[in-house]
Amino acid sequence: MLIKTKQNYINFLSKNTKKVIGLVPTMGAIHEGHGSLIRQSLSECDITVVTIFVNPTQFNNPKDLEKYPRTLNEDLRIIHNISEDVIVFAPHVKEIYPETITSKQFDFGNLSEFMEGQHRKGHFDGVGTVLENIFEIIKPTKAYFGEKDFQQLAIVKKLVEILKLNIEIIGCKTFRELNGLAKSSRNALLTTEEKEYASEIYDSLIHARNSFENSTIEEIKEVVFNKFKTLDKFELEYFEIAGEHDLVPINTKKPDVKYRGFIAAFLNEVRLIDNMALN
Ligand code: PAJ
Repeated sequence: MLIKTKQNYINFLSKNTKKVIGLVPTMGAIHEGHGSLIRQSLSECDITVVTIFVNPTQFNNPKDLEKYPRTLNEDLRIIHNISEDVIVFAPHVKEIYPETITSKQFDFGNLSEFMEGQHRKGHFDGVGTVLENIFEIIKPTKAYFGEKDFQQLAIVKKLVEILKLNIEIIGCKTFRELNGLAKSSRNALLTTEEKEYASEIYDSLIHARNSFENSTIEEIKEVVFNKFKTLDKFELEYFEIAGEHDLVPINTKKPDVKYRGFIAAFLNEVRLIDNMALN
């Protein structure tokens, strides 16, 4: 079922009280990464709601927002192929931002200081703002987010704590192409050749993971930086190794701390991100 307005969703809810509602928020251009979240929600909840909304306030770059793929009919086909039971909420911008299209400011502490927070100013305030509105409308019991956007997942957990919402935030594994490239809506903007080439991002994370135990952070970063210097179609934005819990980049490892590698790179102006547990 496709619902486009808040009022219609409220009407739907009034007929479905006391049900466990699973929410999968997306910006559309639905792919198997989203699909894995939808399947997990279907297996754990009475009702699964997928929201499709390209959120203007989380784009720091207007060109990126303009280029973002919008494919609602195809999205509905893919989602209903997974299950006819999924409720798709695809609102107009006025439903989410009735007055002005602006972000609220949140204090996410260190979680929003580095990596995506550092390179996309205001991005996480935009994510927090849209999710606060979406949570308020959908009223989910559980909400599903991908580890593909690991920093976002941590921010969302913090958001529900800040807003004191009783929503269980569930992190789901990153779904990948056969060559390791993380599935992403932005992959739709790549040619087949570029998708092959883009596996270098995954290969760098694998290198970091394989060398983590016996190399210094500096050595690992050096290898990745040098690799990207030789890949002329790529422009590396950052490669960081940070604690899994505080998301603060490090220069030296501490024992008994879990670390992850985080990477962002442009491939012919398409911005791709990925991350991986290293130990
Ligand atoms: P979007 O990029 O559409 O992603 C929607 C959800 O799907 C996010 O939780 C994301 O982490 C997850 N996802 C994307 N690719 C994945 C993959 N390869 N494997 C597993 N999960 C994957 O993230 C957003 O939209 C927006 O910021 C949003 C949360 C909807 C707020 O506007």
